[in-house]
Amino acid sequence: MCGIIAAASNRNVGKLLVQGLHKMEYRGYDSAGIALHQKDQIAHLRTLGKVKLLEEKMIAEKPKSKLGIAHTRWATHGEPSEENAHPHKSNERVYIVHNGIIENYLDLKEFLKDEGYSFSSQTDSELIAHLLEYFLSKGNSMVDSMYLTKEKLDGAYAIAAIDRENDQNIVIARSKSPLLIGIGTDEFLAASDPLAIGQLTNEFIFLEDGDVAELTSESYTIFDDTKQKVSREITHIDISNQATSKGEYKHFMEKEIYEQPDAILNTIDGRVGGDDVLENIFGLGSSDIFQKVKRVQIVACGTSLHAGRVAANWFSAISELPTQIDYASEYRYRNPHVDEDSLLVTISQSGETADTLAALRYAKEKDYLSTLCICNVPTSSLARESEYSIFTNAGPEIGVASTKAFTTQLAALMLLALSLAKSRNRNPKLRKRIITALRSLPDTVQETLKLKDEILEIAPEIASKDNALFLGRGIFYPIAKEGALKLKEISYIHAEAYPAGELKHGPLALIDEEMPVIALAPESEIAEKLVSNLEEVKARGGTLYVFSDPSISMDLKSGRLINMPKCDFLLTPIIYTIPLQILSYEVALLRGTDIDQPRNLAKSVTVE
Ligand code: M6R
Repeated sequence: MCGIIAAASNRNVGKLLVQGLHKMEYRGYDSAGIALHQKDQIAHLRTLGKVKLLEEKMIAEKPKSKLGIAHTRWATHGEPSEENAHPHKSNERVYIVHNGIIENYLDLKEFLKDEGYSFSSQTDSELIAHLLEYFLSKGNSMVDSMYLTKEKLDGAYAIAAIDRENDQNIVIARSKSPLLIGIGTDEFLAASDPLAIGQLTNEFIFLEDGDVAELTSESYTIFDDTKQKVSREITHIDISNQATSKGEYKHFMEKEIYEQPDAILNTIDGRVGGDDVLENIFGLGSSDIFQKVKRVQIVACGTSLHAGRVAANWFSAISELPTQIDYASEYRYRNPHVDEDSLLVTISQSGETADTLAALRYAKEKDYLSTLCICNVPTSSLARESEYSIFTNAGPEIGVASTKAFTTQLAALMLLALSLAKSRNRNPKLRKRIITALRSLPDTVQETLKLKDEILEIAPEIASKDNALFLGRGIFYPIAKEGALKLKEISYIHAEAYPAGELKHGPLALIDEEMPVIALAPESEIAEKLVSNLEEVKARGGTLYVFSDPSISMDLKSGRLINMPKCDFLLTPIIYTIPLQILSYEVALLRGTDIDQPRNLAKSVTVE
């Protein structure tokens, strides 16, 4: 999704701004641009496509500047094109970059057209440049013009703006879209993502909704929603190069798949002790609150929602709590009834997903006992706005396709199931059994990664097809869904998931030799039923690829049976996820797609 970076410095900033755009490429984008202040004029360069092209333009034109703003755009209003790329400008004077969506843009466009402004893009963002210019031309300062502009805007935004008539200042503003200041050496920076400037500083200030700030190379000043000067906390984050580079791997996704043993260890580390989960690992007072919980409501999107679907089974089996789960984008619109003593749980890698944040904000107006988030980014809006939280500690996830974020979310959700059970005095023996299994989980994941060689043998067969079906039952149905999502998003093969028992109610009609069927068959009380479902596929000429417990015997005519390592049943969903990730990755590699930045997708979806 769109990325913003801005810098006011004593050195040339062109290169550092473009490097920052590169660091945000993982978020997904379709065009890029930069505006660099050059005393009496502004160099304005934009390209459709990769940041590399913008970089080439910069090398050709060699603009020099100590003050600038830059952007990667992910199209919402208007097609991907150079005209729609940011920065947008007004009267060759004001240049802005914007993340978010301006909801009342049609009304504001009419107002500006009446004032004599003409539009050169189809975006909602361009009007911000015109509004700022409109107020500046009436003699207001940059900061005052930003406040006057803010008064007119409805929607979500992070904005950075420069004025040709002022070569010292950048003004930034935040409302519902992430924006932070970085304290550099002899320079101040702004960005929508700490990764963009993590090479330049480890001191960050996260702006709050309504804040406006002014940056020069010497200083920064922050004003709150009421235009009062405020000081905001400085957060120290060490974003090492290692965490944001591919190292020996071809893609970030590949690196992130193989990081999972360490990532899961980091999620569990320091949170379990003896035979149980430790107290208050979700924040001070959380263990007491958990005693009162009678029901759980989960909201999340995409992969994070799949983690929630697995967890709903755990909350029932381990914590003995009924759980309702909703797509975050749907939750607010179904007029949800909130039962007494319900806990709202949000799950998000980024903590900035607009639908999930909106669901949390909506829920806070309702009668929830409390709100809790499972998140990978401690400084995110979701983490800051939830009463309780646990961080997955997976390290930055750069590949758009979620891998280590998912398995660490599952590990954290298991800790939540155990904590709820502990506070409610439920299932002590089961808790002890799971804690033992959790401790050996990183090793089991490591062993599972060794299946790569076997998966390499089946990848070409899947890569040559246009469709695939994923089957799982019970707690494995969400894993089948996650497998299908991984395959479709990075290889562009159409993939669907079904609970295996549903096949005969319709999807069986799709089965022929062109439809690979990937099935998850762990040892379980319904293993025999699953095998019968798979026989139905075999009888119709379907090719089966079955990831199964060694105890399950099946005579396949074609396809392959792959034996999975042993693990406690309740944790097997984590183990069975791994081969599906490797399979999607290897299939996408064979099909030559853009694995880390699949078409049309964004890592952090900050629009609703
Ligand atoms: O950052 P979040 O976990 O809130 O993101 C939610 C989804 O956009 C995300 O899980 C998406 O489905 C995955 N990147 C797919 O691999």
